[in-house]
Amino acid sequence: MSGTDFLPIKGWDHVEFYVGNAKQAAHFYEKTFGFKPVAKLGLETGCRDRASYVMQQGQVRFILSNALTPDHEIARHAALHGDGVRTIALEVDDVDTSMEAVRTRGATIVQPAGAFEDESGTLKSGVIKYAGDTLIKLVERRSYRGVFAPGYQPLEVDGAPTTGLVAIDHIVTNVHLGEMNYWVNWFERVMGFTQLAHFTDEDISTEYSALMSKVMEDGRKIKLPINEPAEGRKKSQIDEYLEWYNGPGVQHVAMNTADICATVRELRKREIDFLCVPDTYYEDLADRVGSIDEDFAELQDLGILVDRDDDGYLLQIFTQPLQDRPTLFFEVIERHGSRGFGVGNFKALFVSLEREQAKRGNL
Ligand code: FE2
Repeated sequence: MSGTDFLPIKGWDHVEFYVGNAKQAAHFYEKTFGFKPVAKLGLETGCRDRASYVMQQGQVRFILSNALTPDHEIARHAALHGDGVRTIALEVDDVDTSMEAVRTRGATIVQPAGAFEDESGTLKSGVIKYAGDTLIKLVERRSYRGVFAPGYQPLEVDGAPTTGLVAIDHIVTNVHLGEMNYWVNWFERVMGFTQLAHFTDEDISTEYSALMSKVMEDGRKIKLPINEPAEGRKKSQIDEYLEWYNGPGVQHVAMNTADICATVRELRKREIDFLCVPDTYYEDLADRVGSIDEDFAELQDLGILVDRDDDGYLLQIFTQPLQDRPTLFFEVIERHGSRGFGVGNFKALFVSLEREQAKRGNL
């Protein structure tokens, strides 16, 4: 990386999902994951072609959007991909200079830097293309005091109790075989990111399938791993995603909690389904990860995975896909020093993933 940071990023701003039915999705995200609806856009606010709900928990902000007209780009996206992530939005100090920086470095511009105003001030944003139909949005909100963005009406809802999710940890994208290095170079060149870690199919393979993964990061704030399938004896979970999503896109969004046992206990009570972890995973866990603060029996009871590296350890769990297509899912993660992604769990996880894939007849 060069000496000057040409694209200083303050943090995650939001993630926008294009869905088939935003009203029902908002209800699901509120009652299960514990997000609070804080603002809305739709017919009541004078928007006649789409409806969007802003859902907030801790620093995590999700936008759930659906189309109100048949030819809308949201309708086409939802028909092609199913419910999924359209936009990863990052907060910057200055959208004009940031967009100019990425444009001169080769970004494909979808929406040039623009200013949007209402009585709460001015919000600036610009949008560039990322893998498949996924977009990256740069947002400048230092001159905006409203709840989310101009056009949105704040909602006064108490909301369901939270589940302890506090922030976005990382967002993983799946791309086709041979495309991972293109996007690694793109992040280095266009966004000024650096490569944190790199797993080969030696690390992440099972008898049937494999994947390769590289993690791109901006400082310690933004981590965007990229997966591509590797040759396996049967179809990998990445291939399955690419088939059902009809191309590259976001595979999972990982969110931090300060107490993963409490979060997962609450999510299970609210009927969120997680990947099943084989009991054999826990047999030699203490030998693999050493001493940790949590109780191994409770982790096994809740299906939580543990991994350790030189910096510390992490606890993580993966949900089942959040829609009928085997595409997007969530991860809940609690870090104790480790900056990794649970590479030691990949194999145990994939054995489990493939069992689910076989049940769907896709292996
Ligand atoms: Fe992850």
